[in-house]
Amino acid sequence: MLIWNQKKYFGGFHLGTKDNQKRGKMTKILAGNWKLNKNTMEVRKFFQRIAGSPCLDEVKIAIFPAIVTLQASIDSSKDLKLSLGSQNSSEHIQGAFTGEISASVVAEMGARLALLGHSERRSLFGEADQVLSRKVKAAQEAKLKVCFCIGETLQEREENQTDLVLKRQLEVGLSLANKASEIWIAYEPVWAIGTGKVASVEQVQQAHHFIKNQLTSLGFNSVSILYGGSVKPDNAAALASIPNVDGFLVGGASLEVESLEAIAKAMK
Ligand code: PGA
Repeated sequence: MLIWNQKKYFGGFHLGTKDNQKRGKMTKILAGNWKLNKNTMEVRKFFQRIAGSPCLDEVKIAIFPAIVTLQASIDSSKDLKLSLGSQNSSEHIQGAFTGEISASVVAEMGARLALLGHSERRSLFGEADQVLSRKVKAAQEAKLKVCFCIGETLQEREENQTDLVLKRQLEVGLSLANKASEIWIAYEPVWAIGTGKVASVEQVQQAHHFIKNQLTSLGFNSVSILYGGSVKPDNAAALASIPNVDGFLVGGASLEVESLEAIAKAMK
């Protein structure tokens, strides 16, 4: 039996659960992006409630709490088989950068992941591909595993620009990345985030296939590709069975233990 604590869990992140190892099947990833939700008390309650849940064995759970509740999340999930990360981190490690988040301090706090390039960071906070490439580098240098988000807007999809946009976001965004480090890519069509409009099976299949090929040609081999955008308990099973979907990045439905559990169950 694998003995888990956060460090060991991460050391063995690729291994999957014992049963799945026997079957040669990788355990899927279920990542929750809490955005700017939950106060400290709510965070603690969530981790109390998820303790003992079967979902911790069914999938690899990762949670991205708001940075102000990251320490409380780490403290209250110490003994749980899940991982934590920041929703953003700076290209700078230290210095005169008011309001920035140091990746090395995030790692020092005990988090293991950094979510970078989320469409809300791109569109609301003006983060473009170049700055994201430097953020990816800084996070990896701080030994955080990066979950890098990409995705097209509705207009780009309607203008048949999806592949071009994804290609550019990967090429530029990962241009300074360490190819030997494991990386997660979250494909999140912008028009599907928080809208209840989920991408069709065909759209997800095409995009993930395209992303996988791009990553291979860029020299990234240790990659998991997650889908995100209105993933809910009732669409999770269909989405999870699509080839090259290694897991999900979930916003709204990750806020409650019950819906997270239902998604995990549907992914098995
Ligand atoms: P959603 O958010 O699941 O609420 O659509 C996804 C995300 O923003 O990562």
